[in-house]
Amino acid sequence: MIVSLIVAKAKNNAIGKNNNLLWHLPSDMRFFKETTTGHCIITGRKNYESIPEKYRPLVNRTNIIVTRNANFKVRDAIICHSLEEAIEVARSKGETEVFIIGGGQIYKEAMAKCLVSRMYITEVDAEFEADTFFPAFEQKSWISKELSSIATDEKNQLQASIKLYERK
Ligand SMILES: NC(=O)c1ccc[n+]([C@@H]2O[C@H](COP(=O)([O-])OP(=O)(O)OC[C@H]3O[C@@H](n4cnc5c(N)ncnc54)[C@H](OP(=O)(O)O)[C@@H]3O)[C@@H](O)[C@H]2O)c1
Repeated sequence: MIVSLIVAKAKNNAIGKNNNLLWHLPSDMRFFKETTTGHCIITGRKNYESIPEKYRPLVNRTNIIVTRNANFKVRDAIICHSLEEAIEVARSKGETEVFIIGGGQIYKEAMAKCLVSRMYITEVDAEFEADTFFPAFEQKSWISKELSSIATDEKNQLQASIKLYERK
């Protein structure tokens, strides 16, 4: 099973503020949906609760929520109490590629423990003030290629590049 993460980050690694995203990029939302549909996704409890109620659990995906709260329950989602347990639950379901979808704490732990071998990173061509950041990582440990680019138009107000990183 491939353990992947998927994130959209600004040039200064900003990813969120006040438990919200920093931008509205429908083309990136579409990429996220197409890439993760049919798979298990792993989310931190805060990121999960930041998703508007009508969109959660994310449809057509097995939602696995990580929390330290032993009493936390969500209908139609699996609750785990560590990132490793969440990955094992995905594996036990016969998953081929599991997606860690954030937020900041979960990305940081996944990167620090080298749990991830593939990253889908949307690099937004702007800097943002934020309270949550994607961790810096060694570029030389990864091979990257651009999958597509997002141009500004009436719906997408920022330029971005969607890249795939594979661990060397
Ligand atoms: N730009 C992007 O691509 C992107 C993607 C995702 C999220 N975001 C942004 O990121 C922000 C949310 O990130 P965040 O760092 O605040 O929170 P988070 O990582 O989503 O969730 C943190 C929570 O996860 C649980 N947790 C963390 N580590 C754990 C562990 N080792 N074992 C068990 N449970 C653990 C804890 O839940 P309990 O407190 O319940 O114990 C903790 O409070 C939001 O602003 C969101 O919009 C951005």
